[in-house]
Amino acid sequence: MNALEQDLKRLVPLVEGLGAARAKADPHRQKLHIQPPVGWLNDPNGLCKVGDTYHVFYQYGPFDPAGGVKHWGHVTSTDLLHWQHQPVMLCPDQPFDCHGNYSGSALCEDGQLWLFYTGNVKLPGRYDYIHEGREHNLCLAVSRDCLTADTKECLMRNADYPEGLSCHVRDPKVWRQDGVYYMVLGARTREDRGEVLVLSSSDKRRWRHINTITTPEPFGYMWECPDLFQLDGQWFLLVSPQGIPCQNVYGCGFFALHGDFRGECTLGDYHPLDGGFDYYAPQSFADGERRLQFGWMGMPDAPYHNPTVEHGWQHCLTFPRQLCRKGELLVQAPADELKALRGAPAALADGAEMAVSPCFELEAAIGGSFALTVAGGLTFACDEAGSTASLWFAGEALGAGRDRRTMELQTPCRSVRVLADASSLEIFVNGGEAVFTTRYYPEPGPVTLRLEGAAGTVWPLAL
Ligand code: FRU
Repeated sequence: MNALEQDLKRLVPLVEGLGAARAKADPHRQKLHIQPPVGWLNDPNGLCKVGDTYHVFYQYGPFDPAGGVKHWGHVTSTDLLHWQHQPVMLCPDQPFDCHGNYSGSALCEDGQLWLFYTGNVKLPGRYDYIHEGREHNLCLAVSRDCLTADTKECLMRNADYPEGLSCHVRDPKVWRQDGVYYMVLGARTREDRGEVLVLSSSDKRRWRHINTITTPEPFGYMWECPDLFQLDGQWFLLVSPQGIPCQNVYGCGFFALHGDFRGECTLGDYHPLDGGFDYYAPQSFADGERRLQFGWMGMPDAPYHNPTVEHGWQHCLTFPRQLCRKGELLVQAPADELKALRGAPAALADGAEMAVSPCFELEAAIGGSFALTVAGGLTFACDEAGSTASLWFAGEALGAGRDRRTMELQTPCRSVRVLADASSLEIFVNGGEAVFTTRYYPEPGPVTLRLEGAAGTVWPLAL
């Protein structure tokens, strides 16, 4: 362990201890969702299950609720509901990762964790840090006890990537298939085009570029956080593209992939994964037969002020979602474990108002136009034909300055399911064919629910 790693490993628990009471006193602190003890959180990283234990890592800036230099925060759980805080796994302590241990993924082999991540380095000088002045290194950390990294290595540097790329090449997602290791990396070309690199390896250390996947026409300037997997016989490529026309600052969506990702292949249409304000950089992993996904419940560079910053922390992950295939589409639903938290159900009549614990679940069958208003100022509604759904805030405080999001639905809205935590809503339409994810900031205490045009069932959720 070098002296910088030693110092950072001591400092992080100190700042966590100093800020804990202030963060815990925040009424917007989540109950069910993974959030940083203090400071900043963004992407989920290194998702895996070792034995009976789920490990979730996340981009963590312990020293600054507005960002800061990225570490890998760590939580574990055996039920996806109760999460134990663990010591920080990766710190920016090497020459090849000193300005951030950026996003990546985990392989679990022989009970050890192999963590692939991007070492971010910004060279001193006047650079744009896109085409010059930045290193994005492919790095590997190995942990024998799944709690501390024993070794860190730099496996590839920018000069080792294919020709024609900018400095932005990051976010390795690694998996093993038929005895071979594969990796996808998000990239920005020198011509500002987003694409995904495919690499293969026989030993997890020496990687060879074997393919590049992109759309026939340019689609954004950078594709962050790629994820590639097969579900029920269909391959899907998920990316968080920057520079595409969309309602949020950046996009987040998927393509069905046809052919062989290692050679000849084409991408189907792009589908956004979420219609809300706060969803980005999701990653998935195989949990036995099911595929679970966590996303960042946030959006990079979003121009609004999150009130939790006053309490020294910011952002959280989504509740884990199970992904299922529907033709060439993906549907998302909260992991079944959630149902164990349901208390006594209460009926919410059409046009009636109800006050509930801020942590609740709601389900409603939909026949035509309907509107659900939460906390008197956040409305989710579908039009009569059920072909579009919108989410909007009335007033400043509840949405921290955000306004409205609208998404076209593939099929008319027939059902809605809402998972609410102290400061978030995840809204699943038609069993998760469309999802709307947002943070919101209600007054402390119970929240009011009002459903018009439909009747529903509401469960308080308690851990
Ligand atoms: C996505 C992202 C990744 C990067 C990480 C840095 O939100 O920009 O591409 O690895 O965040 O925190």
